[in-house]
Amino acid sequence: MALKDLLHDSDYTVVFTGAGMSTESGLPDFRSTNGGLWNQLDPSEIASTKALNDHVDEFTAFYRERVLGVKEYEPHQGHFILADWEKQGLVQSIITQNVDGFHQEAGSKQIAELHGTLQKVRCQSCRKVYDSEAYIKQEYDCACGGLLRPSIVLFGETLPTEAFQIAQEEAEKAALFIVLGSSLSVTPANMFPQIAKQHGAKLVIVNLEATSLDAYADLVINEQKIGSVLKEANS
Ligand code: APR
Repeated sequence: MALKDLLHDSDYTVVFTGAGMSTESGLPDFRSTNGGLWNQLDPSEIASTKALNDHVDEFTAFYRERVLGVKEYEPHQGHFILADWEKQGLVQSIITQNVDGFHQEAGSKQIAELHGTLQKVRCQSCRKVYDSEAYIKQEYDCACGGLLRPSIVLFGETLPTEAFQIAQEEAEKAALFIVLGSSLSVTPANMFPQIAKQHGAKLVIVNLEATSLDAYADLVINEQKIGSVLKEANS
């Protein structure tokens, strides 16, 4: 059955996105064979609490680059199609691992950001939140003197409770669960497609490379880019 048919047959559809959702906006993903960030950098050395505490200059320089990326690039047509499907009642919610804020920018409303957002930074001491423009201006200190760090989940940190709970509820309610652009290699995020499947959802995986859950999916699309898949299902 084609994605378009599954979408129109479903009475509760949840979309789950990973970094592959934003590569067509110009942002690199993490594990693509060509160009994935973690093919050149070790995440435990640069995207972790260890890096924040022990190599703060490399940490702030790396995240300044990523903040520049999310401020410079923007949602592509696929993000806008998902927002439109929400308005039409075809999609009920989005669970995203992405921290670029592109689903919000494209107009989607029901979003659970499992890994936080690069659009904000917060103080390690007083937890005051600032726009991440501060990183672009290389302002790394809070008014209280504490260090500002991106409002994202670093390796070694736990996921935000509210987003996790919403994702759990949405995965359990889903009649159709559509994965867009994730290698499904990071826990606990990669639990949600499995929870959806265990609760009776049809599972669709749209990903250029194979994932460990492809065998459980009702439909796997891996020879087409997300933008093209969504455009086709939107016709
Ligand atoms: N269309 C379809 N698939 C794509 C596209 C595209 N245009 N571009 C990339 N992909 C696929 C790649 O083949 C890859 O398997 O998207 C997948 C992205 O996987 P990852 O790079 O592992 O990204 P993700 O699954 O989101 O990583 C999860 O890991 O480092 C952490 O916190 C980070 O949220 C991230 C988490």
